[in-house]
Amino acid sequence: MRAAWYTEHGPPEVLTVGEQPDPRPGVGEVRVKVGWSGVNPVDWKSRGRGRASGRLQIPHHDGAGVVESVGEGVPSTLVGQRVWVHGAAHRRAGGTAAELTCVPLAHAVPLPDDVSLRDGACLGVPFLTAARCLDVEEPAASVLVFGAGAVGSAVVQLAGPGVRVHCVVRREEQAVHVRALGGIPVTLDSLPDRIDLVVDADPSEDLPHYAERLARGGSVALIGAPAGLELPLRRWMANNVTVRSVLVFTLSDRVLSRCVDTVSALLRRQPPATPPVEVYGLDEVAAAHARAESPGPRKVLVEVGGG
Ligand SMILES: NC(=O)c1ccc[n+]([C@@H]2O[C@H](COP(=O)([O-])OP(=O)(O)OC[C@H]3O[C@@H](n4cnc5c(N)ncnc54)[C@H](OP(=O)(O)O)[C@@H]3O)[C@@H](O)[C@H]2O)c1
Repeated sequence: MRAAWYTEHGPPEVLTVGEQPDPRPGVGEVRVKVGWSGVNPVDWKSRGRGRASGRLQIPHHDGAGVVESVGEGVPSTLVGQRVWVHGAAHRRAGGTAAELTCVPLAHAVPLPDDVSLRDGACLGVPFLTAARCLDVEEPAASVLVFGAGAVGSAVVQLAGPGVRVHCVVRREEQAVHVRALGGIPVTLDSLPDRIDLVVDADPSEDLPHYAERLARGGSVALIGAPAGLELPLRRWMANNVTVRSVLVFTLSDRVLSRCVDTVSALLRRQPPATPPVEVYGLDEVAAAHARAESPGPRKVLVEVGGG
């Protein structure tokens, strides 16, 4: 199969494109013919950092395609099923930047007929993360998200009816995007007074702006945790604020299944909306990474088999 890979960490140029052996589905796995592969910050951050291992890594956790064969224990009736794929490269060498990827059955979720493979490749990391961030004990009526990228956009779409989702934006184009989704663009000077849930990837920068605005029983979902981060836990404890760290790849099976259900429910209502999509070919995967790393927001996709 054709695939993109790297064997050492570094800039996008460490990515190579060429031929690799077809992967074989293991017990409980499906082999997916990849149509589209989604690029997320975790993909380029993982490529850029880390110790040289010499181990081959095909990047990208997210994708969409068609089940092409199944491993032991998986019904063969699934062959031909259109699926969206998540977590393909987590502790696995074979991500979705390849013509074929093998994943456990739970990581290949049926895609409704009216949702394109291209849209399906936008779902995994950002939508499951958003679903988990919104998975709070106390209903949140006022949500604050820093950024209007893939995760911010997904939070706006997955929050229930009547929930006000405020996205902190830095540019007018981002404000336009948020309004189009039904969210409320805000700046650091216009944050809501009362916030029930914050979704924050960079708390060392953002926290001083919202620490005092969390409502009693509110929650903070940290999707990034810089080294040395200090949280105002005494202040928050006085208000029963819950702090949760969220990493989409290590959710328990039960929570992951709940988050997948949340995304599937959205897909039954509407196709997913993302920041403006930019498409690259598999041969252009290094350019795709370079673009994804530059200020956005945009959703970068790699077209593998298309469809
Ligand atoms: N823990 C997890 O499981 C998990 C899962 C998904 C994502 N994440 C993390 O969450 C972050 C967002 O992911 P994404 O997929 O949404 O990325 P993305 O699509 O690239 O979007 C990021 C957007 O957020 C904006 N932004 C970043 N920090 C901001 C801030 N402090 N205030 C206002 N806007 C801000 C950026 O603005 P500019 O365009 O101005 O740069 C960019 O437009 C990344 O750091 C990612 O690594 C974590």
